[in-house]
Amino acid sequence: MRLAVVPGDGIGVETTREALKVLGAMELEIGIEVFPWGADHFLKTGEAVPEGAFDMLARDFDAVLAGAFGDPRVPDGRHADEILLGLRRHLDLFANVRPVRALHDSVVPLRNARASDVDFVLFRENTEGAYSGRGRVAGEGTPDEEAIEEDVTTRRGVERICRAAFTFAEVFDKALRLGRRPRVLMADKHNVQKRGGGLWHRVFFEVATTFPSCETRHLFADALAHEMVRDPASLDVVVTNNLFGDVLSDLGAALQGGLGLAPSGNVHAGRTSVFEPVHGSAPDLAGKGIANPFGSIRSLGMLLAHLGRADLAERVERAVAACIAAGETTRDLGGRLSTSDAGDAVVARLGGRTATGLGRAPRGSAPAR
Ligand code: NAD
Ligand code: IPM
Ligand code: MN
Repeated sequence: MRLAVVPGDGIGVETTREALKVLGAMELEIGIEVFPWGADHFLKTGEAVPEGAFDMLARDFDAVLAGAFGDPRVPDGRHADEILLGLRRHLDLFANVRPVRALHDSVVPLRNARASDVDFVLFRENTEGAYSGRGRVAGEGTPDEEAIEEDVTTRRGVERICRAAFTFAEVFDKALRLGRRPRVLMADKHNVQKRGGGLWHRVFFEVATTFPSCETRHLFADALAHEMVRDPASLDVVVTNNLFGDVLSDLGAALQGGLGLAPSGNVHAGRTSVFEPVHGSAPDLAGKGIANPFGSIRSLGMLLAHLGRADLAERVERAVAACIAAGETTRDLGGRLSTSDAGDAVVARLGGRTATGLGRAPRGSAPAR
């Protein structure tokens, strides 16, 4: 197994270090290479990623573990776009898989819900939509200024993400456990976005006919936001476009205890895929050693599952759940641990060795190899 690691900026560096610590405790034969791409590298060299880097990752690595990208010194976030959106686009990682799974009752912010009610998976289209990068501005700075952002939807793009969602739903353990048909819900705004939304609506129900074992449902994206809070237990698999998926996945993060806990994968089966927490670089926390590393650690779990070790992913989930149950958390979850101590707590709960071979890296440095 060859793993590329791109910690990035801010707390991405700190939380990725803890994910690597957990990986080190797993006794796997794994080669790790850390790449320094982020704001520092961009400001120093003028390049976000070296020429040919994405092809190199696809060729030489089985998966990528990423931290977060974004830094106040690069106000337009140019490097973050090039790295993160570049990875998604160049590696054609069309499925952004964002589980919304609460690991303990105490982290669920809803009055009438328990952890078992918050267990669904969001499939966010990850290569098109409002993230096309296309558009133009006319008359900049004048009273008549007009900005056009092109939201691009293709039949191929919608079809493959819908298929991925249904394929996943067929084996979704929640539905299997409950002994009922898995539910796949698609959210769009075809009442307003008649072209792109209309395409989503048509294609989703076409794809649905080829998955008769699944129940299908449609909600407008605004109504889905409401449903996620009103009755999250009714959801199994949700599929939506890039921008709605971005917004709804932060809501999903809140349902499972906050951004510090939410994992994700940018996936294309059979290709080098990228795993990262849902959260950003949190400049307000960076350098303080208090960011929650659980989202990064759970993303590592997703990475291991993607590489065929679902058993290890489940071990990671259980270890994080045990830490939460014991109050061994950072302050966003009400605990008192530092980022590093929270990582140690997960390692201790894994039931494995604590020796990581990585040591405890000094604050602000890149994770050890
Ligand atoms: P953010 O996710 O960084 O932070 C939002 C809020 O959540 C902040 O209050 C932060 O303190 C808190 N938070 C986030 N992660 C946390 C953690 N692990 N533990 C505890 N609290 C946590 O979003 P933002 O503030 O909107 O963006 C900051 C920068 O990150 C921007 O440059 C943005 O573009 C970028 N960003 C990057 C990614 C990514 O790389 N995947 C994702 C989102 C935002
Ligand atoms: C995410 C982030 C990114 C996105 C930003 C940093 C470009 O918010 O991964 O959720 O919008 O996709
Ligand atoms: Mn986001």
